Amino acid sequence: MEALKGVRILDMTHVQAGPTCSQLLAWMGADVIKFENPQGDATRGQLRDVPNADSLYFTMLNCNKRSITVNMKSLEGKTVFVDLLKKSDIIMENFGPGVLDRFGFTWEKIHELNPKIVMGSIKGFGSTGPYADFKAYENVAQAMGGAMSTTGVPDGPPFVTGAQIGDSGTGLHLAIGLLAALRHAERTGQGQYVEVAMMDGVMNLCRVKFRDHQRLTRGDMPEYSVPTYKGMGEVPRAGNDSGGGQLGNAIHCKPHGANDWLYIVVQEAVWDALAKRIGPDVHIPDLATDSRFATIAERRKNQQLMWTLINKFAEKYTKRELMAILNPLDVPCGPIMSTEDLATDEHVRGRDMWVELDHPKRGKWYNVGMPIKLSASPAVITRSPMLGEHTDEVLREVLGYDESKVANLKQAGAFSIPPKKAA
Ligand SMILES: CC(C)(COP(=O)(O)OP(=O)(O)OC[C@H]1O[C@@H](n2cnc3c(N)ncnc32)[C@H](O)[C@@H]1OP(=O)(O)O)[C@@H](O)C(=O)NCCC(=O)NCCS
Repeated sequence: MEALKGVRILDMTHVQAGPTCSQLLAWMGADVIKFENPQGDATRGQLRDVPNADSLYFTMLNCNKRSITVNMKSLEGKTVFVDLLKKSDIIMENFGPGVLDRFGFTWEKIHELNPKIVMGSIKGFGSTGPYADFKAYENVAQAMGGAMSTTGVPDGPPFVTGAQIGDSGTGLHLAIGLLAALRHAERTGQGQYVEVAMMDGVMNLCRVKFRDHQRLTRGDMPEYSVPTYKGMGEVPRAGNDSGGGQLGNAIHCKPHGANDWLYIVVQEAVWDALAKRIGPDVHIPDLATDSRFATIAERRKNQQLMWTLINKFAEKYTKRELMAILNPLDVPCGPIMSTEDLATDEHVRGRDMWVELDHPKRGKWYNVGMPIKLSASPAVITRSPMLGEHTDEVLREVLGYDESKVANLKQAGAFSIPPKKAA
C-alpha cells in the first residue's frame, strides 16, 4: 500500500521548487490536489515542444496529481478554497512574497480554519530579514547560497550547476519538513508552519564549502589543486577537485569528445594498485614507490603531475574501457554520463529511473523516475493532469458539492478567469 495513503495535500505550488516536492509526496501515495490559477501553472506553456500540449517542464513535475482551477480573486473561489482547506492535511505554496496574505489567508488565518493542517511555504529568502521581499529563481538561489562562487575554475567566471539545487533541492528540504510536521500533527492535533528558503537550502547543500571557509582561518587546504593560504577569506573555485580528503579529478578519454571523461578518486587505499597498473605504460615502472607520490601528502603536493600521468595512461581508452580497468583495482570512478547515456542506460532502466508515460495531447514521453525506493510502497507513476481535469471530481468527491452547487459556482466564475470588461 502507498505509504502516504489517506494524506490529502492542497497544492498551490507552481513552477519547479514546490511541484518537485508535491510530486514526490504524490509518488508516496498522497492525494495531491493541484490548486491552479484558472490560467494554469505558467510552466504548462513554457518551453513547449508539442503545439497545444502541456510542456515537458510541466508534465515532468506534476505526475500523479489532480488538477482543479479556482479563481482566488473571486469570493466564491475563496469559499471553495476554505472548504478544501478544511478537508486537507497539508497546504503548500511557493508564491512570491505576500501573495497568500493578499488573498486574505495568512498562516494564522489558515491555522484558525484548520488547526491540524500543516502549511509548507517556499520563499527565495524566507519571511524575515532584509531579503524577505525578493522573488527568486533557481540561479538566483545558487548565486546567493554559495554554490556559484564555489563552482568553476579560479580564473573563470562563477558557474551554476546543472543540478537544480535551488529549486528541486529546496523541494526536497520541504518534503522532509512537511513529513516531520505531519507526524507532529498526528500526535498533537496541531499543525505548524514549515518554511524553507531557497537560499538556506543551497547553503545546506554547500555545507562542505563552509567547512573549508573556516579551515582557511587556520591554514591552507593542501587537497585543493589551486593555491590556498591561511587568511584567504573566500573559498576558491576549484574545478573538478573532489571536495573531500581524497584527491579526485575528471580524466579525458578516447575519443576526447565533450563527455568522454571518467571521474576518478585516487583514494589512499588504492594508490599502490593504481600506480603499479599505470606506471609501466607512462614509462615510470616504479611509480608505486616513487617518492614524489609515496604519501597522500606528497600526492597532494604533486597532484598536477599525477593527473598528467593518469591522463596520459587514459589516452588510448574510452571512458568505459578505463572504468573496466579501474573497477577491479577498487578505484572509485564513474564515467561522465551525458543525458543520452542516461536515457539509454540499462542500469537506469532497470531501476525505473527513466519511465515511459502516455499523455492525451503529447503521446509517449519519459519522466525521470522516483529516486526514493520504499520496499512495501513502490511508486506507480501516472501522467500529469490536464488543466482543471479534476475540478468537478474534486468538488463532488472531496467536498460533497451537488450538481446545482457546482453549476452555481461555475456561473459565478469561481473556476475561471473573469471575462474582460468592455472598454
Ligand atoms: C517563482 C516566482 C518568482 C514567480 O513570480 P510570479 O510569476 O510573479 O508569481 P507570484 O507567485 O509572485 O504571483 C502569482 C500571481 O498569480 C496570482 N494567483 C495565483 N493563484 C491564483 C488563483 N488560484 N487565482 C487567482 N490568482 C492567482 C496571485 O494572486 C499573484 O498575482 P498578484 O501578484 O496579482 O497577487 C515567485 O512565485 C517566487 O518568488 N516564488 C517563491 C520562490 C520560488 O519558489 N521560486 C522558484 C520557483 S521554481
